Amino acid sequence: MHDSNKDEAEKSQVAPAFDEPLYVNRPVAVNKPGFLSRFDKIWDAHWFTNDGPMVQELEQALADYLGVKHCVLASNGTAAMGLLIDALELGGEVILPAFTFVSTAHLLTLRKVMPVFADICPNGHDLSVEHCRALITDRTSAIIATHIWGRPAQIQDLQALCDKAGIPLIFDAAHAFGARSGGQMLGRFGRAEVFSFHATKLFHTFEGGAVTTPDDSLADRLRKFRNFGFTEYDQVDCIGTNAKMSEVHAAMGLANLETIDEILAQTKNVYDAYDDGLRSIKGLELVGPRAKAETNHYYIPVLVDEAKFGMTRDELVARLHEQNVLVRRYFYPGTHQLAPYKTGEGHEHRLPATDQVSSRIVVFPGGASLTVPDVSRLCELLERMQSHNAP
Ligand SMILES: Cc1ncc(COP(=O)(O)O)c(C=O)c1O
Repeated sequence: MHDSNKDEAEKSQVAPAFDEPLYVNRPVAVNKPGFLSRFDKIWDAHWFTNDGPMVQELEQALADYLGVKHCVLASNGTAAMGLLIDALELGGEVILPAFTFVSTAHLLTLRKVMPVFADICPNGHDLSVEHCRALITDRTSAIIATHIWGRPAQIQDLQALCDKAGIPLIFDAAHAFGARSGGQMLGRFGRAEVFSFHATKLFHTFEGGAVTTPDDSLADRLRKFRNFGFTEYDQVDCIGTNAKMSEVHAAMGLANLETIDEILAQTKNVYDAYDDGLRSIKGLELVGPRAKAETNHYYIPVLVDEAKFGMTRDELVARLHEQNVLVRRYFYPGTHQLAPYKTGEGHEHRLPATDQVSSRIVVFPGGASLTVPDVSRLCELLERMQSHNAP
């Protein structure tokens, strides 16, 4: 056999470092009895959707937990953001980061609102307040900032900017359940915040989402909008859609909320294990939060320095996938580089920090489904990769 073929054959026979795949944010499944007992109640009550008792209980429980007056549940985070955009009647232009999930740009574009992409801070990867300031025009109707990596955006500075411009500040808090700012839970800031409770999020309802807000009339409008504009039987007050959460989804949320302290504690253990393990590996930098206590510890964003690590970000991703470590390139490319936005007129395309970070970022498996020994083994693997490859 030719030598290189032999090498290839040998390589393919080597077992991966992990028998089971390690996923980025594998869904948490810790409270089966809590879910099944609620499922039995739903079954017996024959009330499966349409603002049922589980949805009402979860809305109150989440509002209490987050310390905000209203929590309006929705079928998913994107639907929740859509309800909010409609309820606030946003038009013209909306400023948002390109370094985030694509859903908000799509929602705006579908509604003929221009998404105006602002750059991020190279350190925390959150929205640059300075760039937002430069992008505000008399057509700007809102800023939608993401609490990226489960850490707060620069809330006070963004609020001051929006107050001056007379526009609402909205937060995409999809990543940020359980994170805080100034000791207070995220969910109570700006005009409203939007959560995703997708199965891969720290707190989930299988699929789901919510808008949280202190504003009574906004909450009222959101509730109407999510149920076709109905206010009574046979009475439709406004245009609306179907963005309701079902009872089974809410039951999963209640079961997960019962164990949230446990989930947050294990998530932190996993984060701390990465923090320790990655510290000594040249060329891999765990992107830390501004203030340690403010993160929910769920995301493990790592920047790869090719020169020091000895391989590119993409080579590292491919090598780790071979080992059953299914790291992801979030958010790559930035939304401004995706096909629907790349050539669009008016879209901001000079986003140097976004481009730089999205070409070097890799997100590692994190959260309560992982164990500390898994993280230690993974860091040892990375250390070996670095020492074999570094120049
Ligand atoms: C930052 C961000 N915003 C919005 C969303 C959309 O949430 P959903 O998947 O619940 O519609 C996601 C999720 O996947 C996200 O990560």
